[in-house]
Amino acid sequence: MDNRRRPIGVFDSGVGGLTVASAIKQILPNENIVYFGDTAHLPYGDKSAEAIKGYSHRITEFLLGYDAKMILIACNSASASAYESLKETYSGRAEILDVINPVVDYIANKGFHSVGVIGTKRTISSGTYSDKIGTAASGTKVFSMATPLFVPMIEEGFIFDDISNAIIRTYLSDPGLSNIEALILGCTHYPIIRNQISKFFNFNIEVVDSARIVAVRLREMLESESLLNDSSSRGKDLFFVSDYTEYFEKIARMFFEGNLDLKRADIWT
Ligand code: DGL
Repeated sequence: MDNRRRPIGVFDSGVGGLTVASAIKQILPNENIVYFGDTAHLPYGDKSAEAIKGYSHRITEFLLGYDAKMILIACNSASASAYESLKETYSGRAEILDVINPVVDYIANKGFHSVGVIGTKRTISSGTYSDKIGTAASGTKVFSMATPLFVPMIEEGFIFDDISNAIIRTYLSDPGLSNIEALILGCTHYPIIRNQISKFFNFNIEVVDSARIVAVRLREMLESESLLNDSSSRGKDLFFVSDYTEYFEKIARMFFEGNLDLKRADIWT
Protein backbone atom coordinates (compact mmCIF):
# COMPACT_ATOMS: atom_id res chain seq x y z
CA MET A 1 0.00 0.00 0.00
CA ASP A 2 1.10 3.57 -0.72
CA ASN A 3 2.54 4.74 2.63
CA ARG A 4 0.60 7.99 2.42
CA ARG A 5 -2.69 6.10 2.50
CA ARG A 6 -1.90 4.28 5.73
CA PRO A 7 -3.99 5.44 8.72
CA ILE A 8 -2.93 7.42 11.77
CA GLY A 9 -3.17 5.39 14.97
CA VAL A 10 -4.51 7.40 17.89
CA PHE A 11 -4.97 6.16 21.44
CA ASP A 12 -6.17 7.31 24.84
CA SER A 13 -7.30 5.79 28.11
CA GLY A 14 -10.88 6.31 26.95
CA VAL A 15 -12.79 8.74 24.81
CA GLY A 16 -11.16 12.06 25.87
CA GLY A 17 -8.54 11.59 23.13
CA LEU A 18 -11.35 12.07 20.64
CA THR A 19 -10.88 15.84 21.15
CA VAL A 20 -7.51 15.37 19.44
CA ALA A 21 -8.99 13.06 16.78
CA SER A 22 -11.57 15.78 16.06
CA ALA A 23 -8.85 18.40 15.57
CA ILE A 24 -7.02 15.99 13.23
CA LYS A 25 -10.15 15.58 11.12
CA GLN A 26 -10.47 19.36 10.83
CA ILE A 27 -6.84 20.04 9.96
CA LEU A 28 -6.12 16.87 7.97
CA PRO A 29 -9.46 15.88 6.39
CA ASN A 30 -7.84 13.39 3.99
CA GLU A 31 -6.29 11.28 6.73
CA ASN A 32 -7.86 8.11 8.08
CA ILE A 33 -7.82 7.45 11.80
CA VAL A 34 -7.75 4.20 13.75
CA TYR A 35 -8.63 5.13 17.32
CA PHE A 36 -8.27 2.97 20.40
CA GLY A 37 -9.74 3.96 23.77
CA ASP A 38 -8.66 1.73 26.63
CA THR A 39 -11.97 1.99 28.47
CA ALA A 40 -11.28 -1.30 30.30
CA HIS A 41 -8.41 0.39 32.17
CA LEU A 42 -9.47 4.00 32.55
CA PRO A 43 -8.72 6.26 34.29
CA TYR A 44 -5.01 6.26 33.50
CA GLY A 45 -4.66 9.38 35.66
CA ASP A 46 -4.70 7.25 38.82
CA LYS A 47 -2.48 4.41 37.52
CA SER A 48 1.26 3.87 37.92
CA ALA A 49 3.63 4.84 35.12
CA GLU A 50 4.64 1.15 34.82
CA ALA A 51 1.04 -0.01 34.27
CA ILE A 52 0.39 2.73 31.70
CA LYS A 53 3.60 1.85 29.86
CA GLY A 54 2.49 -1.78 29.60
CA TYR A 55 -0.96 -0.81 28.26
CA SER A 56 0.55 1.67 25.80
CA HIS A 57 2.89 -0.91 24.28
CA ARG A 58 0.10 -3.41 23.73
CA ILE A 59 -2.18 -0.76 22.20
CA THR A 60 0.62 0.39 19.90
CA GLU A 61 1.02 -3.20 18.67
CA PHE A 62 -2.73 -3.29 18.00
CA LEU A 63 -2.62 -0.03 16.01
CA LEU A 64 0.44 -1.19 14.05
CA GLY A 65 -1.64 -4.25 13.17
CA TYR A 66 -3.80 -1.76 11.21
CA ASP A 67 -0.64 -0.58 9.47
CA ALA A 68 -0.62 2.83 11.18
CA LYS A 69 1.99 5.17 9.68
CA MET A 70 2.09 7.30 12.82
CA ILE A 71 1.10 6.64 16.43
CA LEU A 72 -0.33 9.58 18.34
CA ILE A 73 -0.58 9.25 22.11
CA ALA A 74 -3.73 11.36 22.63
CA CYS A 75 -3.55 11.14 26.42
CA ASN A 76 -1.42 13.28 28.69
CA SER A 77 -1.07 10.58 31.36
CA ALA A 78 0.22 8.10 28.74
CA SER A 79 2.41 10.77 27.09
CA ALA A 80 4.00 11.48 30.49
CA SER A 81 4.52 7.78 31.24
CA ALA A 82 5.19 5.98 27.98
CA TYR A 83 6.39 8.34 25.22
CA GLU A 84 10.14 7.68 25.57
CA SER A 85 9.66 3.96 25.88
CA LEU A 86 7.31 3.74 22.86
CA LYS A 87 9.75 5.80 20.81
CA GLU A 88 12.62 3.53 21.74
CA THR A 89 10.69 0.38 20.85
CA TYR A 90 8.66 1.39 17.78
CA SER A 91 10.27 4.35 16.02
CA GLY A 92 11.66 2.04 13.32
CA ARG A 93 8.10 1.01 12.42
CA ALA A 94 6.13 4.24 12.85
CA GLU A 95 6.68 7.80 14.04
CA ILE A 96 5.52 8.34 17.63
CA LEU A 97 3.95 11.67 18.59
CA ASP A 98 2.73 12.69 22.04
CA VAL A 99 0.53 15.54 23.28
CA ILE A 100 3.08 17.14 25.63
CA ASN A 101 6.15 18.00 23.50
CA PRO A 102 4.26 20.08 20.89
CA VAL A 103 2.66 22.13 23.71
CA VAL A 104 6.03 22.65 25.41
CA ASP A 105 7.45 23.98 22.10
CA TYR A 106 4.43 26.27 21.72
CA ILE A 107 4.93 27.67 25.25
CA ALA A 108 8.67 28.15 24.65
CA ASN A 109 7.96 30.13 21.46
CA LYS A 110 5.55 32.42 23.24
CA GLY A 111 8.10 33.44 25.89
CA PHE A 112 5.61 33.59 28.79
CA HIS A 113 6.95 34.55 32.24
CA SER A 114 4.54 32.39 34.16
CA VAL A 115 2.24 29.53 33.15
CA GLY A 116 0.00 27.06 34.94
CA VAL A 117 -0.56 23.40 34.06
CA ILE A 118 -3.55 21.36 35.15
CA GLY A 119 -3.99 17.64 34.54
CA THR A 120 -4.48 14.24 36.14
CA LYS A 121 -2.55 13.09 39.20
CA ARG A 122 -0.31 10.92 36.99
CA THR A 123 0.55 13.75 34.59
CA ILE A 124 1.20 16.30 37.31
CA SER A 125 3.16 14.02 39.65
CA SER A 126 5.38 12.94 36.73
CA GLY A 127 6.68 16.54 36.52
CA THR A 128 6.90 16.13 32.73
CA TYR A 129 5.49 19.54 31.80
CA SER A 130 7.54 21.46 34.37
CA ASP A 131 10.75 19.58 33.53
CA LYS A 132 10.33 20.00 29.78
CA ILE A 133 9.34 23.66 30.00
CA GLY A 134 12.28 24.19 32.39
CA THR A 135 14.61 22.87 29.66
CA ALA A 136 12.97 24.54 26.63
CA ALA A 137 12.12 27.89 28.28
CA SER A 138 14.16 28.34 31.44
CA GLY A 139 12.73 31.85 32.00
CA THR A 140 9.16 30.54 32.28
CA LYS A 141 7.89 29.81 35.77
CA VAL A 142 5.52 26.83 35.93
CA PHE A 143 2.86 26.14 38.53
CA SER A 144 1.39 22.63 38.21
CA MET A 145 -1.78 21.36 39.82
CA ALA A 146 -3.72 18.10 39.66
CA THR A 147 -7.44 18.64 39.05
CA PRO A 148 -8.72 15.04 39.15
CA LEU A 149 -12.41 15.87 39.60
CA PHE A 150 -12.60 17.47 36.15
CA VAL A 151 -12.63 14.14 34.26
CA PRO A 152 -15.63 12.55 36.06
CA MET A 153 -17.35 15.93 36.19
CA ILE A 154 -17.12 16.31 32.39
CA GLU A 155 -18.08 12.70 31.72
CA GLU A 156 -21.15 13.04 33.92
CA GLY A 157 -22.18 16.09 31.90
CA PHE A 158 -21.62 18.71 34.64
CA ILE A 159 -20.35 21.41 32.34
CA PHE A 160 -22.45 24.58 32.53
CA ASP A 161 -24.04 24.34 35.97
CA ASP A 162 -23.61 25.00 39.67
CA ILE A 163 -21.60 21.82 40.23
CA SER A 164 -19.07 22.53 37.48
CA ASN A 165 -18.87 26.21 38.46
CA ALA A 166 -18.11 25.28 42.06
CA ILE A 167 -15.44 22.71 41.12
CA ILE A 168 -13.80 24.99 38.54
CA ARG A 169 -13.80 27.92 40.98
CA THR A 170 -12.42 25.82 43.84
CA TYR A 171 -9.50 24.46 41.84
CA LEU A 172 -8.63 27.56 39.86
CA SER A 173 -8.74 29.91 42.86
CA ASP A 174 -5.46 28.40 44.02
CA PRO A 175 -3.05 31.29 44.70
CA GLY A 176 -0.40 29.53 42.55
CA LEU A 177 -2.51 30.36 39.49
CA SER A 178 -3.10 34.01 40.38
CA ASN A 179 -0.39 35.58 38.19
CA ILE A 180 -0.21 33.24 35.24
CA GLU A 181 -0.28 34.43 31.60
CA ALA A 182 -1.35 31.07 30.21
CA LEU A 183 -2.93 27.87 31.49
CA ILE A 184 -2.11 24.57 29.79
CA LEU A 185 -5.00 22.12 29.67
CA GLY A 186 -2.85 19.04 30.34
CA CYS A 187 -5.62 16.51 29.88
CA THR A 188 -7.47 15.64 26.69
CA HIS A 189 -10.87 15.93 28.41
CA TYR A 190 -10.43 19.55 29.40
CA PRO A 191 -11.11 21.29 26.05
CA ILE A 192 -14.78 20.55 26.80
CA ILE A 193 -14.65 23.13 29.65
CA ARG A 194 -12.23 25.49 27.95
CA ASN A 195 -14.73 28.39 27.76
CA GLN A 196 -15.69 28.09 31.41
CA ILE A 197 -11.99 28.14 32.36
CA SER A 198 -11.35 31.21 30.17
CA LYS A 199 -14.35 32.88 31.75
CA PHE A 200 -13.07 32.15 35.26
CA PHE A 201 -9.92 34.15 34.35
CA ASN A 202 -12.08 36.91 32.78
CA PHE A 203 -10.57 36.01 29.39
CA ASN A 204 -7.30 37.64 30.56
CA ILE A 205 -5.02 34.65 30.06
CA GLU A 206 -4.38 32.28 27.16
CA VAL A 207 -5.94 28.87 27.72
CA VAL A 208 -3.73 26.43 25.83
CA ASP A 209 -5.58 23.42 24.49
CA SER A 210 -3.30 20.77 23.01
CA ALA A 211 -5.72 19.35 20.41
CA ARG A 212 -5.11 21.91 17.67
CA ILE A 213 -1.42 22.39 18.45
CA VAL A 214 -0.88 18.63 18.21
CA ALA A 215 -2.85 18.31 14.96
CA VAL A 216 -0.71 21.06 13.41
CA ARG A 217 2.49 19.28 14.56
CA LEU A 218 1.16 16.05 13.08
CA ARG A 219 0.65 17.80 9.72
CA GLU A 220 4.24 19.12 9.82
CA MET A 221 5.60 15.66 10.63
CA LEU A 222 3.59 14.03 7.84
CA GLU A 223 4.78 16.68 5.39
CA SER A 224 8.41 16.32 6.35
CA GLU A 225 8.22 12.51 6.04
CA SER A 226 6.30 12.75 2.72
CA LEU A 227 3.47 10.83 4.38
CA LEU A 228 0.65 13.35 3.92
CA ASN A 229 -2.38 11.73 2.29
CA ASP A 230 -3.15 13.95 -0.67
CA SER A 231 -5.86 11.69 -2.03
CA SER A 232 -9.42 12.73 -1.28
CA SER A 233 -10.75 9.16 -1.78
CA ARG A 234 -10.57 8.27 1.86
CA GLY A 235 -11.29 5.01 3.61
CA LYS A 236 -13.26 4.71 6.81
CA ASP A 237 -12.20 5.87 10.27
CA LEU A 238 -12.26 3.11 12.87
CA PHE A 239 -13.00 3.62 16.57
CA PHE A 240 -12.24 0.83 19.03
CA VAL A 241 -12.66 0.56 22.78
CA SER A 242 -11.46 -2.24 25.03
CA ASP A 243 -14.75 -2.27 26.94
CA TYR A 244 -18.02 -1.22 25.37
CA THR A 245 -21.05 0.32 27.09
CA GLU A 246 -23.76 2.63 25.79
CA TYR A 247 -22.43 5.17 28.25
CA PHE A 248 -19.05 5.27 26.44
CA GLU A 249 -20.87 5.63 23.13
CA LYS A 250 -22.86 8.56 24.52
CA ILE A 251 -19.92 10.43 25.99
CA ALA A 252 -17.80 9.74 22.90
CA ARG A 253 -20.24 11.95 20.97
CA MET A 254 -19.49 14.81 23.33
CA PHE A 255 -15.80 14.67 22.36
CA PHE A 256 -15.97 13.99 18.62
CA GLU A 257 -17.68 16.09 15.99
CA GLY A 258 -18.61 13.68 13.25
CA ASN A 259 -19.84 10.16 12.65
CA LEU A 260 -18.68 7.67 15.16
CA ASP A 261 -19.32 4.00 15.61
CA LEU A 262 -17.54 2.47 18.61
CA LYS A 263 -16.52 -1.18 18.30
CA ARG A 264 -15.21 -3.39 21.05
CA ALA A 265 -11.73 -4.83 20.52
CA ASP A 266 -10.77 -7.11 23.37
CA ILE A 267 -6.99 -6.93 23.28
CA TRP A 268 -6.50 -7.93 26.90
CA THR A 269 -7.54 -11.58 26.94
N1 DGL B 1 -7.13 11.17 28.83
C1 DGL B 1 -6.48 11.26 30.13
C2 DGL B 1 -5.38 12.31 30.05
O1 DGL B 1 -5.26 13.04 29.08
C3 DGL B 1 -7.44 11.62 31.22
C4 DGL B 1 -8.38 10.51 31.61
C5 DGL B 1 -7.74 9.43 32.45
O2 DGL B 1 -7.29 9.69 33.60
O3 DGL B 1 -7.68 8.31 31.97
O4 DGL B 1 -4.59 12.42 30.96
